[in-house]
Amino acid sequence: MLKSRLIHTCTSTFKHVVPNNIKGKGSSSAKWLTRQLSDPYVEKAKMMNYRCRSAFKLIEIDDRHKFLNPGKVIVDCGAAPGSWTQVAVNRVNADGLLSDQPRGVVIAVDKQQLFPISGAIILGNSDFTNPVVQDTLKTMLDGKEVDAVISDMAPNTTGVKEMDDENIINLCYSVLRFAVLVSKVSAVLVVKLWQSGYTKKLQNDMERFYHTVKVVKPNSSRTDSAEIFLIAKDFKGLKVS
Ligand SMILES: C[S@@+](CC[C@H](N)C(=O)[O-])C[C@H]1O[C@@H](n2cnc3c(N)ncnc32)[C@H](O)[C@@H]1O
Repeated sequence: MLKSRLIHTCTSTFKHVVPNNIKGKGSSSAKWLTRQLSDPYVEKAKMMNYRCRSAFKLIEIDDRHKFLNPGKVIVDCGAAPGSWTQVAVNRVNADGLLSDQPRGVVIAVDKQQLFPISGAIILGNSDFTNPVVQDTLKTMLDGKEVDAVISDMAPNTTGVKEMDDENIINLCYSVLRFAVLVSKVSAVLVVKLWQSGYTKKLQNDMERFYHTVKVVKPNSSRTDSAEIFLIAKDFKGLKVS
């Protein structure tokens, strides 16, 4: 069965006021509301003060693969509205709340506006694919090597599957190229993509630089979405021969 492409992959938990009565709404808004109201992750995100339900995807990935530890340096690509950044800041201790643990660094970038998150370094209104933006990120790193580049970036969908698949894969390659330049040996890379004919090639290309690359589909990623994540572990480093 063809998986649908969900446009609202990250619905903010603090912007929407849910009307009491959805009668008379268009069928797509009624469907959206019904899904939101019956989604346990939406409620849980609100309770835990996450900016959106996507937080739980990163929590699940990290609970399984354990790369967000105190002191780590993280670059979060496509970070708005900021729930992955919130999780990363907390886990790497970028806000310094764990006084007995090393303090990490989280740099968050998005082409949309990003509202401040305590402990994170924010680069909003910035297209990650722009080389000038990547140079700015490198400057922000201030010589520090990165422990994990994480990307939940997704382009606006056009409705033309081939074009959408190509657009998200191009974002993934842009993240991969950046990651190999800034990562320390043994670092991790996480990218979001939509399952397509390009998945295997991307996985193979990632395997040139990382010892293991696995497909992950967190429970909190909607089953009717084609969304998957690739986690690449143990960066081999760029050997100069
Ligand atoms: C699913 S949302 C990310 C949600 C985020 N991980 C969170 O937990 O709050 C995808 C984001 O990718 C961003 N994006 C898409 N293309 C981008 C690009 N070229 N540069 C930077 N951000 C981009 C979008 O603006 C959008 O905010």
